[in-house]
Amino acid sequence: MDMISGLRYQAARLAEQHGGKTDGAPEPTLSPNLVKAFSLAGRVAVVTGAARGMGAQAAVTFAEAGADVVVADVLEEGLEETAEKVRALGRAATVVPTDVSQKAKVDALAARALTSHGRVDVWANVAGVLRYSLIAETTEDDYAFITGVNQAGVYWGTAAAIRAMKEQGGSIVNIASAGGDMPAPTISVYAMTKAAVMMITRSAAIEAGEFGIRVNAVAPGFIDTPMVAGYYTREDGTVDPDAKRDAFAMRAAQSPIQRTGEPEDITWAMLYLASDASRFMTGQVLRPNGGVVMP
Ligand SMILES: NC(=O)c1ccc[n+]([C@@H]2O[C@H](COP(=O)([O-])OP(=O)(O)OC[C@H]3O[C@@H](n4cnc5c(N)ncnc54)[C@H](O)[C@@H]3O)[C@@H](O)[C@H]2O)c1
Repeated sequence: MDMISGLRYQAARLAEQHGGKTDGAPEPTLSPNLVKAFSLAGRVAVVTGAARGMGAQAAVTFAEAGADVVVADVLEEGLEETAEKVRALGRAATVVPTDVSQKAKVDALAARALTSHGRVDVWANVAGVLRYSLIAETTEDDYAFITGVNQAGVYWGTAAAIRAMKEQGGSIVNIASAGGDMPAPTISVYAMTKAAVMMITRSAAIEAGEFGIRVNAVAPGFIDTPMVAGYYTREDGTVDPDAKRDAFAMRAAQSPIQRTGEPEDITWAMLYLASDASRFMTGQVLRPNGGVVMP
């Protein structure tokens, strides 16, 4: 038997042993060791930006992994819906309307999480905003709005999380962006704030490690959420299906695997960072982006 045939034979044997390929065999079960590594059972997660998009999906993914979730957003519409999805999975959910650009509001969110759940193990800073403008035309209002949410919001969230987790340790997951690695026209302020998120992450990892707190970031590529709806929404607020198809096709063409992302492509990476599966990771940036940026 040549080497390739030998490897194929060995793979077929293994698949058979683990129920992978045999017709009618029961579904293979994950080893308890692996389930434990990715489990958030008994843990409490705070998720900002949880009214919609990736934040809403992160709350659901964390609940699927066994966490109780505190869902926060400035947009109250949608928050209760996310909380209901968490409860439908058998987990507790607490809704806390919060503007993350204000330190006092973020501190109040942490206090509420502690009074309602007694602990915070995971804190995901997902809230973010995007406005398009050329540098020469950016207004002070655009600048303050974007930096207030994306940069100050993540900074104050990280600060509150460190204080809340100091006694027992935990994991902070910040959402950056492929835009933080790659300059592009009309998103300069957004890109600056996302590069800042990566540095906040590294700085916090240095300071919080001694408390058993890990701090990492996820830098998504193009993901189908309301944030990117500007690419295909008409002035009257309706969706232009042709523009939507073109926008997604154009983005997919930039990826070696020829696709754009779904929220779970990001929240599964977030779960890895939130859970013990990533216990040796801190100060790092994971880049689920379909390969569009490889810094
Ligand atoms: N969609 C993408 O392609 C993409 C790519 C890279 C990074 N991101 C980042 O992912 C994160 C989630 O974005 P999304 O795509 O789900 O967008 P989204 O617009 O669907 O969700 C963002 C959420 O943040 C909330 N938010 C905005 N300002 C807030 C504030 N001051 N306080 C509290 N909550 C606030 C919004 O209300 C919204 O619910 C953001 O940080 C975004 O920058 C998105």
